[in-house]
Amino acid sequence: MQNFIPYGKQTIEKDDLNSVLKSLKQKFLTTGPKVIKFEKEFNKKVKSKFSVSSNSGTSAIFLALKAIRLKPKEVVIIPSINFIAAANVSKMIGAKIFFADVDSRTGQMSPENLIDCIKINKLKKIKVIFTMHNGGFNNFAKEFYSIKKKYKCFLIEDACHALGANNSSKKDDKVGNCRYSDLATFSFHPLKSITTGEGGMTTTRNKLLYKEMLKLRNHGFDVRKNSKNKNYNWKNILLSNSLNFRLNDIQSSLGISQIKKLNKFVKKRNNIANYYLKKLSRLSNFIFLPNNNKFYSAWHLFIIIFKTEKISISRDKIIQLLFKSGILTQVHYIPNYRQKPFLIKSKKNFKGAEYFFSRCLSLPIYPEMSKKQLNYVIKRIENIIFKNKKIPNK
Ligand SMILES: Cc1ncc(COP(=O)(O)O)c(C=O)c1O
Repeated sequence: MQNFIPYGKQTIEKDDLNSVLKSLKQKFLTTGPKVIKFEKEFNKKVKSKFSVSSNSGTSAIFLALKAIRLKPKEVVIIPSINFIAAANVSKMIGAKIFFADVDSRTGQMSPENLIDCIKINKLKKIKVIFTMHNGGFNNFAKEFYSIKKKYKCFLIEDACHALGANNSSKKDDKVGNCRYSDLATFSFHPLKSITTGEGGMTTTRNKLLYKEMLKLRNHGFDVRKNSKNKNYNWKNILLSNSLNFRLNDIQSSLGISQIKKLNKFVKKRNNIANYYLKKLSRLSNFIFLPNNNKFYSAWHLFIIIFKTEKISISRDKIIQLLFKSGILTQVHYIPNYRQKPFLIKSKKNFKGAEYFFSRCLSLPIYPEMSKKQLNYVIKRIENIIFKNKKIPNK
């Protein structure tokens, strides 16, 4: 596997190594100043009011859902093309999950898909709507926000793909600022825009939710207990039940050096995406390219859609041929309703998701990807398609 071109990869540089090494020599390895600094830097970067770090993107979702007090049987709407975390956490809390169909080209839930889901399922009372910026861009922030206001529910952005992206054409309107949502969640898994090994962040503009999440990430202890007391306060007062979701200072110090380079990393991803878009346009008879994002994208993924009626080879076979050539690709994602714990047998309400799922493929994209690697991937895809085309490429 050593020489494989992966579909995503972290960038770790000398300043990252130094930052982590220094953190190991400090007094606090966890619950110390680096955690607070990382959260502050994150706030600055995404122009959020409050940021709460945690030990994974999944924990970030858990904290968000617990902070808004999601209860068993309450309704949660989730885009059907999604990583499984939002559905898993909602199910563990006992919520009633409804999956919305998605746009067949982007794999993202559109405002129309959301309205359809509400109508088809005759939903009157909704507790939470999740959006997920599949691939790294956020097209309909304002539209989703007005739907949320109409239904008086919470809107949570699962923004794990979109750190560094924008909500609109305004330069500083960053995903995570929560101008059009109640909460946004991020992951620092190695394949994401920046990494802390494992890690997550939840942002909000709501002070009460912020305080609730600080408590929830630390077992449910009263985290403000020492703030005014001059004496040593050794009493850990438990206010509610929770678990340990803390990010530690070693991971946070990596986060601090990584977040400084977020713009650079995302710019490189944009350059790679533009190169793919230019070169792969030669294949426009056989594939749809991901060129329908309206605003600045984090380009977490570069997803192409095969026009399967124009080629005599399946998407799954193409994955295997690319693998044999040393190229690892992925499918983002198997629809949540196809996974056993969430199984919905009838696919009649999921035409967009079914189309997208059966034809999509995520190509390698990461900041350190070289021109040589890029050209190699493009060449291999071209070869495979031209060898298996049904009509001549005009
Ligand atoms: C859209 C989305 N949501 C949630 C997560 C969960 O993040 P983590 O792996 O950090 O728990 C991921 C990570 O893959 C993701 O891509």
